[in-house]
Amino acid sequence: MRSVPFLAVAAATTVTALPHLQARQSDSNPFEGRQLYVNPNYSESLEQTREAFLAQGDTQNAGKVRYVQERVGSFVWVPTISHLKDIDAAIANARAARDATGQDQVVGLVLYNLPDRDCSAGESAGELRLDENGLERYRLEFVDPFAQKVKEASDLTFAIVLEPDAVGNIVTNQQVEFCANAAEPHQEGIAYAVSQLQADNVALYIDASHGGWLGWDANLAPTAQTFASIVQRAGNNSRVRGFSTNVSNYNAFHEPVPPPFTDGSSSYDESSYASSLAPHLEAEGLPARFIVDQGRVAIEGAREDWGEWCNVVAGFGQPATTQTDNPYVDAIVWVKPGGESDGECGLEGAPIAGAWFDEYAQLLAVNAHSEIVPLE
Ligand SMILES: *[C@@H]1O[C@H](CO)[C@@H](O)[C@H](O)[C@H]1NC(C)=O
Ligand SMILES: *[C@@H]1O[C@H](CO)[C@@H](O)[C@H](O)[C@H]1NC(C)=O
Ligand SMILES: *[C@@H]1O[C@H](CO)[C@@H](O)[C@H](O)[C@H]1NC(C)=O
Repeated sequence: MRSVPFLAVAAATTVTALPHLQARQSDSNPFEGRQLYVNPNYSESLEQTREAFLAQGDTQNAGKVRYVQERVGSFVWVPTISHLKDIDAAIANARAARDATGQDQVVGLVLYNLPDRDCSAGESAGELRLDENGLERYRLEFVDPFAQKVKEASDLTFAIVLEPDAVGNIVTNQQVEFCANAAEPHQEGIAYAVSQLQADNVALYIDASHGGWLGWDANLAPTAQTFASIVQRAGNNSRVRGFSTNVSNYNAFHEPVPPPFTDGSSSYDESSYASSLAPHLEAEGLPARFIVDQGRVAIEGAREDWGEWCNVVAGFGQPATTQTDNPYVDAIVWVKPGGESDGECGLEGAPIAGAWFDEYAQLLAVNAHSEIVPLE
């Protein structure tokens, strides 16, 4: 997931005046009082990391990995039709966790399968193609069963991130022909997902990329307008809970001092990005609420350029919390489970996007946030 040079060309979206403003959602923060579901598959992948530390006699870092394995919730990515079954597994596991602990669960899911996805970088291109009936397949074979599964599990709460990077590409990458062709069907696809996922147990967050991409002053209004156009197109009084930022990126939530590469941007960290975008969202009648991915935070000085997005030297970030010190931010969460490669880039020996990269997982553990303390 990438960042893009600033000063994007204004988007090719037409925004008609909204017939009536979407009321700011009054329903409650889905993360409040709930445990973000701990994905046992992620814990299992991390077992290799823990054993690597133990083999070196490093019980300190092995213990930190154990903390992540047992306590840190993260989102489940659903990036293809065949991964829809992972929703069933997540539902079963979350019910078991709730019954065992008495703690209400919020299941985090990432809906990520637009046709001609990742149009600007291609590292994460998906299975569906627009020129092969991809939008229709997206609706019928992906969004419909996805929606059916979460609506049926009405005893659980879901937080769903919709289509990381898609709106970023719509707003800033229209000079890339592939993205220009995808802009209209991508808005259509996301609007369809929004319309089908309207349910009391579902909180939707459309992805808003990150501060280094859409946070530049010239991009804020076009971003809010694109979201408004999507939600309006969803029709039927569709609502979203808010927007997700920094998914799979490396920006800090609070930077004590703006890093040099942020070049005077008022969105120099993710908290200030939320605050910069909020008035534009409110002007469009949209809820100014955010969740921010802190699965991996770059260590200070690791990046010279905001555009560095691939397997950056980093540590595990702060585990999920609703204590965000920013009224616009529902929660800090882990959307991208650290340890999977961003692609064959960034670090020597990095495998393809999504493949487990254990040396990287080890690096994340060594540099982990101070709340990640060693467990026996
Ligand atoms: C975990 O992995 C198993 C085996 O690949 C899969 O069947 C299951 O759906 C996965 N669960 C989640 C939550 O991803
Ligand atoms: C609006 O709701 C109706 C009835 O549930 C449904 O048939 C229709 O597809 C929905 N429209 C959109 C745009 O989702
Ligand atoms: C941004 O995302 C990266 C990657 O998941 C994470 O390391 C970093 O902590 C996040 N920063 C913020 C502000 O959420």
